[in-house]
Amino acid sequence: MHHKNTIIVLLVSLSSFLAINSQLDYYYYSSCPNLPMIVRYGVWAAMKNDSRIAASILRLHFHDCFVNGCDASILLDDTKTFKGEQKAGPNRNSVRGFDVIDNIKADVERACPSVVSCVDILTLAAREAVVLSGGPNWPVALGRRDGLTANLKAANQNLPTPFEPLENITAKFTLYSSRA
Ligand SMILES: *[C@@H]1O[C@H](CO)[C@@H](O)[C@H](O)[C@H]1NC(C)=O
Ligand SMILES: *[C@@H]1O[C@H](CO)[C@@H](O)[C@H](O)[C@H]1NC(C)=O
Repeated sequence: MHHKNTIIVLLVSLSSFLAINSQLDYYYYSSCPNLPMIVRYGVWAAMKNDSRIAASILRLHFHDCFVNGCDASILLDDTKTFKGEQKAGPNRNSVRGFDVIDNIKADVERACPSVVSCVDILTLAAREAVVLSGGPNWPVALGRRDGLTANLKAANQNLPTPFEPLENITAKFTLYSSRA
């Protein structure tokens, strides 16, 4: 419980920092007013099927942000020109929730075609997963852009692992949230 709260507080700080540093905007998608409700519904439906998915979505979000900032790079499969992040040690066989984000993205595209970035959907979904699990709520400023590449090496270096002591893990949260 204590660690869960620590991670949530760190993520809230991460979101606030991004809002200032990248001049994100709470009203960025004025042409897609239903966006937060669409995301909330998608996360709610996924949790109704599998309550454990809430933690997985939160994890997917920070595993994205720790590697070259919040840019949805974790969602990119391997291509001919780069190896993606999904097979990095801390992600392989453990990152989950891609289908949830894909389904929400499809719903968002139906409502507001070609407007909302995948990374903003993932960032909102992480907040909804926490709120729908009974955790704190926080405003999410929007306007992040999707990355066009991914970084397997940085994923292996930056992501926290179960083999590190807690001090190292919290140090990583401090380091990578200030660079995000
Ligand atoms: C329900 O959850 C299971 C376990 O995570 C998953 O395999 C399945 O795809 C989910 N079904 C739907 C409709 O989301
Ligand atoms: C923890 O961090 C310290 C200081 O950076 C480093 O020397 C040590 O190797 C790290 N431990 C692990 C298990 O990564």
